[in-house]
Amino acid sequence: MTRTHTNGHAPAGVHHGDPNAHRPEPIDVEETSTLIDEGVREELRAIVARYPQPRSALLPMLHLVQSVEGRVTAAGIEACAEILQISAADVSGVATFYTMYKRRPVGRYHVGVCTTSLCAIMGGDELFAALQDHLGVGNDETTEDGVFTLEHIECNAACDLAPVMTVNWEFFDSQTPDSAVDVLERLRSGEEVRATRGARVCTWKQAERVLAGFPDGRADEGPTSAPESRLGLRIAAERGWTAPPVPGRDEPSGDRNPQAQTQAAGAQGHAEDASLKQAESKESGVSADEARPASGPAGGQTGTSTATEEGSARRGEGENGTTKGGEA
Ligand code: FES
Repeated sequence: MTRTHTNGHAPAGVHHGDPNAHRPEPIDVEETSTLIDEGVREELRAIVARYPQPRSALLPMLHLVQSVEGRVTAAGIEACAEILQISAADVSGVATFYTMYKRRPVGRYHVGVCTTSLCAIMGGDELFAALQDHLGVGNDETTEDGVFTLEHIECNAACDLAPVMTVNWEFFDSQTPDSAVDVLERLRSGEEVRATRGARVCTWKQAERVLAGFPDGRADEGPTSAPESRLGLRIAAERGWTAPPVPGRDEPSGDRNPQAQTQAAGAQGHAEDASLKQAESKESGVSADEARPASGPAGGQTGTSTATEEGSARRGEGENGTTKGGEA
């Protein structure tokens, strides 16, 4: 499969020593066709309405542009600038700063391979090399059939599961060259593929729409954490360790007597214990209520209440930003 360079520029990143390797690629202003219509503008305005300061909406607005255009286009930049009443240069400065905003069309599946230190040591470099060979593309390049875009990515905070690969930002943990190639081939054949932590893999444009803040209802699919990541929490729960109270949250102002502090620490410990049970019960398919003993610390009023709130907050975060799926 040959390499696709949609803008005539040399591919960035793979050629060590290339002085252009890390230079931001300019927005292609020659491309005038656009899919940004009044319906999209309406959704862009809906994003702005979520924020006290309109300019704060720019990042999700750019994700919405990508979900429609397949990349950040000049027309998308103009639309964001016009709605936010800021200059196109301001929007362009943001779009060219963050690596999740793309100036070239991305394939149906964006494949990221973490090659930061820990993943590299654990096999990330070999993983990336194997996918380069298999797909016939280099870094930040798209296969000729438009199915895959391959990219080096930086640490994704999954170092305990190194080496990690992402597909449209869903995690595939503890990969080998063979398992990674297998994931891509199953996607190419149209098979439904589930992330090791997270939802079924959707298309890149669908994932971008979720990142713009339009949930697809799949936020609760799949386990959200791995046993490796919860090991410290489990050990702390088994040994009765608790974190010190957070001033202003666990300690009411002015109430600093030892008994209050002990109660606050105890409540937090119960919350963490309940949170651990909730995560484990989800993984095992047993509801948190089923997993929780009829009495005991995790079933106590304070602990249950706090853990439920934390769980809800976590689910809300996933819906708004990090978990993807669904058809566009
Ligand atoms: S080094 Fe790869 S996830 Fe941290």
